[in-house]
Amino acid sequence: MIIQKIKNICCIGAGYVGGPTMSVIANKCPDININVVDIDQEKINLWNSEDLKMLPVFEPGLADIVKKCRGKNLTFSTKLKEHISNADMVFISVNTPTKTKGIGAGQASDLKYVEACARQVAIYAKGYTIVVEKSTLPVRTAETIKTILESSNSLKKKSNTFAVLSNPEFLAEGTAIKDLEFPDRVLIGGESEDAIKSLSTIYKRWVPEKKILHTNIWSSELAKLTANAFLAQRISSINSIGALCEATGADVREVARAIGTDTRIGSKFLDSGPGFGGSCFKKDILNLVYLSRYYGLKEVADFWEGVVHLNNWNQQRISEIVVKKLFGTLTNKKICILGFAFKANTNDTRESAAIKICLDLLNEGANLFIHDPKVTKKQIAIDLNKAPKNDKEENKLNSKIDESSWQKINNIEDGFKDADAVIVLTEWEEYSKIDWEFVANIMRHPAWIFDSRSIVDYKSIKNTDLHLWKVGDGSN
Ligand code: NAD
Ligand code: UGA
Repeated sequence: MIIQKIKNICCIGAGYVGGPTMSVIANKCPDININVVDIDQEKINLWNSEDLKMLPVFEPGLADIVKKCRGKNLTFSTKLKEHISNADMVFISVNTPTKTKGIGAGQASDLKYVEACARQVAIYAKGYTIVVEKSTLPVRTAETIKTILESSNSLKKKSNTFAVLSNPEFLAEGTAIKDLEFPDRVLIGGESEDAIKSLSTIYKRWVPEKKILHTNIWSSELAKLTANAFLAQRISSINSIGALCEATGADVREVARAIGTDTRIGSKFLDSGPGFGGSCFKKDILNLVYLSRYYGLKEVADFWEGVVHLNNWNQQRISEIVVKKLFGTLTNKKICILGFAFKANTNDTRESAAIKICLDLLNEGANLFIHDPKVTKKQIAIDLNKAPKNDKEENKLNSKIDESSWQKINNIEDGFKDADAVIVLTEWEEYSKIDWEFVANIMRHPAWIFDSRSIVDYKSIKNTDLHLWKVGDGSN
């Protein structure tokens, strides 16, 4: 069966991938109707909100595209049945978290959401439908999806046909729109030449043909996990060297520059930091670990598991350094946290190093004043599993209380006043412009600045009596 031209797309999952990806396709292909569906009514309401600042995903450039396409060829709704049955092509873009119970708990991917989607498509699809795996999935998941889809004929006693493709997404949060508009490559794995052609035709509208790679379906699924594993491995590598720099007097930025100029190594992804966060690196590596063990490859599993171990250790070591420098106790100390998102230019906090570090500091008795330009107080409360100080107390920004507490601040100066330490955890640009000479006058001394991202303006600190700790800097 050949589909010459795709007219209707349904994307299941209106999250960080489904929302931006479909917005960009809608913008590039005004003749294709794109309907993004989700089971989460609250999220759909936010995607439809008049005030574009309320969109559930913050990404530079996203709001402009949503404004341009929404209501024209781009919709957001909970109408799964209607939009699946009208679609020539269905993208599955739902979350694939790590299993929390049963076989493979803590490592294997939980495919319950993907399976639920396949069942919905099996029930509601009409005629010939191309089903595209956009979610990151373990190798051979397409087999499961196919089996479920093929059961649809017996379910409905009529003859529907399906092709399943793997088309993993490589966008990074914070640069999602740029990554989607100018991807390094688009990967399409599958068996059906016609289906591959239909999907390639969409991307060819804005992606040069030589960047559209075709592989078999299993290579495509595995390439996605491998790409994330390699990227995360680079971060654990540079963080391990950062710790060694601190111990030996070397500077990790100089080491990174020296090795990055070797074209075989390359200069990207060599920023030492508090440890990688984000919803995918850890879960995808653990999935790779699980798959390797499943196929009896213990040494392969151990190798990749080391990347996650190193990352956990790195996050923990930052809070230990803070406690040590502040005389071994944080009780009743005011600490200003700059940044809660897992990286700059996103409101996403999933697996953010800030969560683990803030929990460790709270456990030590600290009073945290947390600033982030995009993360809400509600999200921080969910992540820390602890309510903020109540609003009345919040107004008395300088008050000291006996037990650990946190509060969200909108004005960073409120965090600096009488603080014992400032910890930079996310590389938001505004933190690189802080005037430390001013800050030094309002902190409580001895006062510490912990820069886990190497972004603060060191020249402005040099003229003050602030103590500075900078990740990977052996001269600290
Ligand atoms: P997300 O949690 O932001 O969004 C997933 C959405 O799917 C949620 O809104 C959820 O309500 C919805 N959903 C779940 N089950 C559903 C169902 N049966 N019907 C309808 N909607 C359903 O997740 P995400 O960050 O967008 O990630 C999605 C997938 O893409 C994951 O596999 C992830 O590994 C992969 N990925 C993510 C990124 C990223 O930067 N976040 C990048 C590349 C790939
Ligand atoms: C990552 C990949 O970069 C994407 O290609 C992939 O599609 C995506 O995961 C996914 O599958 O979810 P993302 O997690 O959004 O994207 O962001 P990254 O830029 O990769 O950053 C991940 C973490 O590593 C962040 O906490 C970041 O601060 C940290 N990082 C990154 C460093 O500590 N140092 C670096 O040099 C780069």
